[in-house]
Formats: sequence, structure tokens, C-alpha cells
Amino acid sequence: MAVRVARSDDPPGAVAVVLRLGRILLVTTAVLGPAALAWAATALVRGRPAAWRLAWPRLVTLLTWLGPAFVKAGQVLGTRRDLLPSALCDALATLQDSVAPLSAARAAEALAEVYGDEVDTLFAEVDYAAIASGSVACVHRARLTSGREVALKLRRPGVDRAMRLDLRLVRRGAALVAGLPPCRGVPVVEVVDALCAAVLGQLDFEREAANLVRLRADLAVVPRVWVPQVVPEACRPQCIVMEFIRDLDLDAASRCPSAARRKFAASALTAMYEMLFVNGFVHCDLHPGNLYFTESAQVVVLDAGFSVQLTERLRLLFADFFLNMAIGDGDKCAAIVVESSAEVRPDADLAGFLDRMADLVRRSHKLPAREFSLIAFATEMFDLQRRHGIHAAPELIFPLLSLLVIEGTIRDLDPEADFQELARPVLVKGRFGAR
Ligand SMILES: Nc1ncnc2c1ncn2[C@@H]1O[C@H](COP(=O)(O)OP(=O)(O)O)[C@@H](O)[C@H]1O
Ligand SMILES: [Mg+2]
Repeated sequence: MAVRVARSDDPPGAVAVVLRLGRILLVTTAVLGPAALAWAATALVRGRPAAWRLAWPRLVTLLTWLGPAFVKAGQVLGTRRDLLPSALCDALATLQDSVAPLSAARAAEALAEVYGDEVDTLFAEVDYAAIASGSVACVHRARLTSGREVALKLRRPGVDRAMRLDLRLVRRGAALVAGLPPCRGVPVVEVVDALCAAVLGQLDFEREAANLVRLRADLAVVPRVWVPQVVPEACRPQCIVMEFIRDLDLDAASRCPSAARRKFAASALTAMYEMLFVNGFVHCDLHPGNLYFTESAQVVVLDAGFSVQLTERLRLLFADFFLNMAIGDGDKCAAIVVESSAEVRPDADLAGFLDRMADLVRRSHKLPAREFSLIAFATEMFDLQRRHGIHAAPELIFPLLSLLVIEGTIRDLDPEADFQELARPVLVKGRFGAR
């Protein structure tokens, strides 16, 4: 009789579910209990805003203790400046996957589980000491038997099972909470489902590898931008094998002369615009760590796990919005926001929104380039939408947020960077040019 060996990604049993639930409840109570007391005391003495400022970092600690599914969910939530208070987003942005790498022996075991006997035929050498380790994967340097130097992004053994279990529990929890009277009418289950889907997406390495291939082709036209080439025949559902990029260093740009830094800024921003306005396929997670500048003058784009495909309609609307922003036509921009929205509430104040939105665009247009802030602009726009009952389309929010993610990086590289001027040629290409 064939004996089936349990694999690290097999579904969990009932005992594991109960133990995990117990641990989640215990950790949550241990952190939130004292946090609630501290909140109440601070709110009494120093007011609610101060109490929340103290509370958010504790929430971040809680998520870190709860593990990868919660860390990833927190990271996704932290990008939603359209929905959540800025102080909470700032706190969530500090969530790091600070997880110890697998030991060399465990990494070797994990690789053997993925490749079986093929390990020796595919790889001439593997450096089992990870060069980077996140909560979902570790990255290793290796050499193929063809002699080519590659990076292996290897999923942690068991992470799939652990995250699926946690998300299942979170969904159950959400269903319970949704039934409580204060939550009637709030789309708790839908929001949690969307969040879980985004988190699960991080586990899908076949899609991530396909996203890298697509981005590499799309961004080939942007000077200096480099997306590592995937080696498809060596990839597996749990491991992405790609060209190894040497000398990635988060501080490389700071050692470059300012002329080079300005070029970096222009290339990175042009890459973003190319994705948004020309291809409609957008890497939504270009924070430092996924976007590197090298001393050999390359802009390296990694980690395409969180990428979004815009529909053709939304891509064109997005481009039109920016075109009209570049010429300061506030009325057109306001009309586009309404046209692209997912829903206009029955009690929405449409006229009020159109007026104020147009005014925001005109005011922003008059600002000198260095004073224009996308974050400030978007925060005000989100606020207007909320107050006037216009619900933005989620497909449009993520790409917009993706621009916000790189704004700080661009400003650091080149404080004078003109976001609207740099957009112009790409917009013209995306809107009127041959694709
Ligand atoms: N192709 C590569 N060549 C060299 N280093 C890489 C490569 N891909 C990833 N890395 C290193 O591994 C780190 C994590 O990779 P990433 O794909 O961003 O994983 P995660 O999903 O854990 O963020 C990167 O910041 C980079 O330092
Ligand atoms: Mg990354």
C-alpha cells in the first residue's frame, strides 16, 4: 500500500484549527486588553486623537505577533489612505516582515521538497544562506547547471497552510461580527473577503512570475529600468527563478551625484506612468525594497506580486484625468471622477462635489512643481468623495495609491521633480499614440 507523506502545505486538521484559534484569541486579548485601558485613560486626559495615536502602534505590534497572514493584511490595509485615518496608515506602513530566515538545513529541505531529484540537474550550486527573508518567502542566490547566476524566491514551507488557516478563521470572525447590530449595513464580509483575496494573492508565485514577465516586456521601453528576467523552465509553483541582480543596496542612490538621482527619479516615474497610462498593468507595491537604484545607473523593479490590470475604460479615464490635470481643467477632472466612480450614493451632493473637486484641481495646477504633493492632493480628493457620497472604483484606487507609494522616493531623489510635466509625453502616447 502506498503511504502518503504529509507535505508542509497539506490542509490543517481540526486540532490545529482549535489550537490556532486559541492562540489568536489569547494574543489578541493580551495586547488589546491593556491597549483599551491605555486608550480610555489617554482619551480622558489628552483627548481621543492622542489616544488613537498611541493605540495604532499597539495594533501593529499585535499584527506582528499574530503572524504572516495578519502582517500581509496590515500592509495591504495600510495602503488604503482613501478609507483609513492617516495616522493608522502611517503606523501600518511601518509593518515589516521581520522574520528570521530559514536555517541553511531547512532551506535545503524546502528546496528538495519543491524540486525532488531535479535539484541536482537544475542547480550547480545554491547558497542556502538567504540574502533576504520575508514572511512568505526567502531569496537565495544560486547558479544553474548552465552556469547562469539566478535568484530563487522560495516560498517558506507551510506558509500556505498557515495563512489559509488564519484567513479562514478571520472570515468566520468577520461573518460573526457582521451579524452584530452596529455592523448592519456595513459590508464587513465583502471588505474582509477582498482583503483575504489580496493576501492570498501573495502566495501565488505562478502569477507573480507571470507578472514579472509582463512588466519586463512593458517596461523595456523606459530607459534605465530593469525587471529581472524569469527563467520559466526552472520555476515551480513554490519557487520563482530569475536573473540575479548584483549589488542591490537600499542606499546606493544616496551615494550617486544629483544628476544621476534626477535621472533615477525621471525613470522611475516614467515607468509608473507607462504602466498606468499606456499598458494599464500596474505594479502597486513599489516601495523601497521592491524598487532599487544601482551604482551602475539602473532602476530595478522587483516583486510584482501585487499588480493590477486596469480595464481599458479605466485606463483611458485615468489618462484623461491626468491630461486634464496637466492643463488645469478642473471641471473635466471632476466629471471624470464621477464618471469613473463605482457608486454615487442616492443622497450624494453631486453639484457640491463637482465644484469643490474642480477647485482642488485648479489650485493644485497653480502650485510650483516642488510644492505639488500627490498625497496631499489625493487625501483631499478622497475626503471630498467621502463627504459628498461618491464611492471611487476600487480598480482605480490601487493604481492611484501606487503613485502615492513612490512619491516619497521620487521627492527624495529629486525635490524639483515635476510630476505633471513628466507625465505629459507618456499621457500623449497612452491616449493618442500607437500602442
Ligand atoms: N532577482 C533578484 N536578484 C537579487 N536580489 C533579489 C532578487 N529578487 C529579490 N531580491 C532580494 O530579495 C528581497 C526580497 O525580494 P521580494 O521579491 O521583494 O520578496 P518579498 O515578497 O518578500 O518582499 C529584495 O528586496 C532583494 O533584496
Ligand atoms: Mg518585496
